[in-house]
Amino acid sequence: MKTIQIGKDKMPLLGLGTWKSEPGIVEKAVETAIKIGYRHIDCAAIYQNEKEVGKGINKCIDEGIVRREELWVTSKLWNDSHKPEHVQGALEKTLHDLGLDYLDLYLMHWPIAFKHGTTFPNSNSGFIPIDEIPLEVTWNKMYEMKEKGLTRHIGVSNFSVSKLKHLIQNGPKPEMDQVEMHVYLQQPELVSFCKENDIAMTAYSPLGSMDRPEDRKKADEPIPLKNEVVLKIAEELNATPAQVLLAWQIERGLAVIPKSTNEGRLKENFESQNLSLSESHLDQLRKVDKNKRIIDGEIFVREGNSYTLTSIWG
Ligand code: A2P
Repeated sequence: MKTIQIGKDKMPLLGLGTWKSEPGIVEKAVETAIKIGYRHIDCAAIYQNEKEVGKGINKCIDEGIVRREELWVTSKLWNDSHKPEHVQGALEKTLHDLGLDYLDLYLMHWPIAFKHGTTFPNSNSGFIPIDEIPLEVTWNKMYEMKEKGLTRHIGVSNFSVSKLKHLIQNGPKPEMDQVEMHVYLQQPELVSFCKENDIAMTAYSPLGSMDRPEDRKKADEPIPLKNEVVLKIAEELNATPAQVLLAWQIERGLAVIPKSTNEGRLKENFESQNLSLSESHLDQLRKVDKNKRIIDGEIFVREGNSYTLTSIWG
């Protein structure tokens, strides 16, 4: 299994994504994934399925299929708990739901703050302007969670180069930035910045997250799994398009967390670790980039609130 060094620990590059996995089927999917060999599970409080994910994990631990220390479990602080007094409670709730004593990695999910208890704001009053709880205030509290041993590592998600720089200037360096990353959104500047600064990266939505709610899709959206270059390389290597998309991220030294609840596709995705891409393949895939976000943050932008696409991604 390919890994990346994070502090003193090794994080498996291939993980299981659990966003959009229905609570009723994710327990079985996690159990199946661990039996296949997955050792990295990516979770978040907002996915509203951590109890079921935790049942899958703990079943495997109880049955002796895996030991806790062989697993890498990531979770994320939701936007409604950025105030320092809410961070530890949110992390403890996640640990309770997952049935674990500690996380391997805890991420600040978005550079966006909501009023406490708000899953998703119905109106502008549910948002808190970011200058009211500066990111570094939440971040320094996240560091305290690491010092207390509730999580072994800390990082961020959906953070741009300028926001990473801001954190580095005002607190400890993040160990991870988890961002949307696929052939249509390759983010070369962010990848270079993270490499230069020894910040690991995880690619979410590597297959294009086509199981998103319909109202979050755009009609003209390009689909990574249907890209012609991807299809051609897959045929050449006798692999599937998904395997090419995943192997490409691993080849670039990025962790990747494809979501599946289907046993066949879980196996297929796991086997992408055995696929090698040549320099020519990497070059061909590099040229596919369209700098196109699918999780574009528009759901956080409302007339009259302080969040804009520029303020989120800038
Ligand atoms: P399913 O859960 O039925 O396997 P992403 O990881 O980018 O969010 O994409 C997840 C979507 O891709 C889900 O709809 C998932 O469906 C599907 N998917 C996962 N693995 C594969 C695969 N190997 N081939 C095709 N689709 C896949």
